[in-house]
Amino acid sequence: MTSQESERVEMPEGEADPGDTSEATDPERRRFLIRTISAIGGGITAAIAAPAAIFVTGSSRATGGEQEWIRLGTASSIEPGAPPTLMKATIERRSGYRVEEQEISVFVTTPNGTDFTILSNICTHLGCRVRWVEDQEGFFCPCHNAIFARSGEVVQGPPPRPLDRYEAMVEDGQLYFKEA
Ligand code: FES
Repeated sequence: MTSQESERVEMPEGEADPGDTSEATDPERRRFLIRTISAIGGGITAAIAAPAAIFVTGSSRATGGEQEWIRLGTASSIEPGAPPTLMKATIERRSGYRVEEQEISVFVTTPNGTDFTILSNICTHLGCRVRWVEDQEGFFCPCHNAIFARSGEVVQGPPPRPLDRYEAMVEDGQLYFKEA
C-alpha cells in the first residue's frame, strides 16, 4: 500500500461501518429510523389529543346527566294569587375540571299554595330579561316590546315561543325546580 492509498478497515458481517452514511448499504438501519420517527410522531399526536378528549367527555357528562332539583326557598313565602314573585338560585355548572357558579332568576306563582308555576325570566327572542308589569297583567321585554301572558304565552312581539317553564316540587316546605 502506498501513502496515497487510503486504508479500509473491514467490518465484521452485520455491523455498520460508522463512516458509511449511505442508506442503501444498510436497509435495516433505515427501517429502524423510520419506526423510531413514527413512534415519536404518534406520541406527540396522543399528547395533543388527550386534553381535548377529556374536555369533550367532561362536557357531555355535565350536560347529559340527570338534572338535579334546585332549591328556591320556602314555598309558603309565595302568596296564592299574588303577582309573580322573582326568586333567585345559584347553581354550579361543571365543564371538565372547571366549576362555575351561575345565578338563575325565575318567576313563581301559585293559585293555591300547593301547585306552583315557575317561569324563566329570559325572553325567548334574543335573551333579554323580562319583568312583570302589573298594569298589563303580563311579562314585558323591553328589548323589542314583547309581552308574555301570566302563563308565559306570547301575547305580542317577536318571541318565537312562550317563556321556558320549569318543573316544580315542594318537599318539607321547600320549593324546588328543575328544567322540564
Ligand atoms: S329580546 Fe325580548 S322581544 Fe326581543
